[in-house]
Amino acid sequence: MAETLSPFAPLTLRRWPRRRDETLRAWDAADLYLWRSGQQEQRGPATLVVNDQCGALWLSALASGPAWSAGDSWLAWCAAEANARDNGVELPEGGWLWPWRQPPASVDQVLMRVPKENALLEAQLAWLATSLPAGTPIWLAGMDKHLPPQLVPLMQRYLGNGQAGLGWKKARRFQAVAPGGALARAPEPARVAVSERGWRLQAGPGVFGSQHLDIGARFMLEHLPTGVAGDVADLGCGNGVLGLALAADNPAARVTFCDESALAVESARANAEALFGPSHRHRFHLGNGLDGRQERFDLILLNPPFHRGHAVDEQVARTLFRHARRHLAAGGELRVVANRHLRYQRPLAKLFEQVEVIASNSKFLIYRCR
Ligand SMILES: C[S@@+](CC[C@H](N)C(=O)[O-])C[C@H]1O[C@@H](n2cnc3c(N)ncnc32)[C@H](O)[C@@H]1O
Repeated sequence: MAETLSPFAPLTLRRWPRRRDETLRAWDAADLYLWRSGQQEQRGPATLVVNDQCGALWLSALASGPAWSAGDSWLAWCAAEANARDNGVELPEGGWLWPWRQPPASVDQVLMRVPKENALLEAQLAWLATSLPAGTPIWLAGMDKHLPPQLVPLMQRYLGNGQAGLGWKKARRFQAVAPGGALARAPEPARVAVSERGWRLQAGPGVFGSQHLDIGARFMLEHLPTGVAGDVADLGCGNGVLGLALAADNPAARVTFCDESALAVESARANAEALFGPSHRHRFHLGNGLDGRQERFDLILLNPPFHRGHAVDEQVARTLFRHARRHLAAGGELRVVANRHLRYQRPLAKLFEQVEVIASNSKFLIYRCR
């Protein structure tokens, strides 16, 4: 069981979704370093937190003044909400800022965790540059092993200043001030070539597969079913490539594109509009797996994640298998593409009556589960 009593005491913090056998903590040394830096140098009580994972920074900041949390992840939002409930903290209405909502003008300082994806880092620096009054202090931090070498040059580019601070417990902090206006344009959404379809799909910053089409997804594209009518879910849709291809081949299917990343869902929406026109029949769901969906699906497509943040974690895939099982219509099918080494046969066989490998190559397997 991961420790819940934290250096952020009196807060007790846990990750979300809640798991009995959780091994990961809801904060790390970079959170603590960032929080202490912000406290020591505080310019005023109003704090904007960016990329908080489980609410450690946001809930701590709320104890001393108004605070907002900006992020792209539904799971991070749920973690903050659950931890607020456990600790009796009232979250302010509109306190969570999905990309790219304007932060209040009253922000005194920013505490930002450096995101995993550089494209998201660039987009967020550009957003801070244009959204904050000149001179607003911005603190950034991350664990040494995850920090991009181009961090300071990127701060210079988008904020016009920025320097690295000292290291502490394998974490490092960085400091800058907002320039009070755009110095460089945010990067355009990436375009991902899907050569077999002649498509160039849009992918927002940090969305999975925004550099190139994932090779697992490419293999799945070669093995999509035809003759599909009814409801289909593209579970963990990223930019929507799997569901879009299925929809293009099966005009009687209606696809629900689901992801926990708001930018992923927006990318899938933009791609569906570009391919099928604005009045298409498809739907979009920002959430944890299929939580909150009422319908049963005839087909669920899944190229599951095997990371949570920077940590390798097969549990996310297993959770999504359970969601699929709960949301399949009678006679429906889950189709999963997975790296050969991931050994999903057993967990799938525990949930589904029939699990077959319908295609394989040197790297991937495609499972059909009914
Ligand atoms: C390996 S990517 C696959 C993306 C896309 N389907 C493809 O094949 O290129 C997995 C996706 O699952 C999403 N994801 C991770 N955890 C999730 C969850 N709990 N609920 C919904 N989506 C999730 C990630 O944001 C990511 O877009």
